[in-house]
Amino acid sequence: MTAQDFILNTYHSDIESGSVKWSSPSNIALVKYWGKKKDQIPENPSISFTLSDCKTITEVTYTKKETKDFSFDVYFEGEKNEAFKPKIQTFFERIETYLPFLRDYHFKIETSNTFPHSSGIASSASGMSAIALCLMSVEEQLKSDVTLSAVERSHDKSYFNQKASFLARLGSGSACRSIEGELVVWGDNESIPESSDLYGVKFEGEVHSNFSNYQDTILLVDKGEKQVSSTVGHNLMFGHPFAKQRFDQAHENLAKLKAILASGDLKQFVEIVESEALTLHAMMMTSMPYFILMKPNTLEIINKIWEYRAKTNSNVCFTLDAGANVHVLYPFSEKGNVLDFIKNELVRYCQNEHYICDQLGLGATRI
Ligand code: PMV
Repeated sequence: MTAQDFILNTYHSDIESGSVKWSSPSNIALVKYWGKKKDQIPENPSISFTLSDCKTITEVTYTKKETKDFSFDVYFEGEKNEAFKPKIQTFFERIETYLPFLRDYHFKIETSNTFPHSSGIASSASGMSAIALCLMSVEEQLKSDVTLSAVERSHDKSYFNQKASFLARLGSGSACRSIEGELVVWGDNESIPESSDLYGVKFEGEVHSNFSNYQDTILLVDKGEKQVSSTVGHNLMFGHPFAKQRFDQAHENLAKLKAILASGDLKQFVEIVESEALTLHAMMMTSMPYFILMKPNTLEIINKIWEYRAKTNSNVCFTLDAGANVHVLYPFSEKGNVLDFIKNELVRYCQNEHYICDQLGLGATRI
């Protein structure tokens, strides 16, 4: 697939109006994407767990109009929201080549999250993937006069997911990994032949039952706005002294993780996942200008997890995204014990003792 394959050429429709709705989850990377080229092409491949309960629900209502400019309104949790508009305007500009109907309709975009607003959880992955999916459903409705055979339809489903992921990527890179579950790879990598820089693909390799229902408890250490955005952080990988080594390492870690997912070796899993999290933050600390997104409580939690693991031989581990919150990952078989540990020893490091329990999920759903 190339970007050209996602251009909708034959669009013509008399449909005046319609409405579509999707629920799309967040995801947490195990091998991290950090550094990008033009058009959100990643500098290195990444793989993530799709989450189940941290989701954005978005409804898009479209109505035909005469003018040829972009026209849309955004409602967040029932209230008209002007703050999200510039991001969506930029998104529309980036994707209009692929969705020529964007200028022909007015769009009412109503969105809400299942997780609390300003929890410090990145909502861009779930948010951008939910809009991308809605726009794909609009595309599908506008093409609905075309009669498709069953084979074409099944091809259509993978095309739908690929293009939704392709569009989501243009909104926010990591959003392209939120369309499907439970594991998604994004970025060309030799060990995963179907992988692509253009969109996320479901990881089709063998996955050991140790990873069934894998748990992610998100400890909300800092709910504030990040001091340095991911966009700025990605850009600081240009000319970064360790960039090449880091990008090579991500390729190697993905290949190693593929084997670990098959073997079910949790000790090796923990090693790769924690090393990836710390490497991501090491890149931030060694950028110029340098910055730190972890907070003292992030480190307290990491140390407690290491102590607990040494004491109990548990397979609990942590990962981080571009912020201070800690994702605590553990097998389903350890759920009871680890939740006790979290409640007794980690919750005190969370802002207002807030944390969110989530687990592996299957991807977005149409509502
Ligand atoms: O999708 P962005 O541009 O917000 O970047 C997210 C990058 C990380 O969350 C730090 C890592 C990742 O792979 O999700």
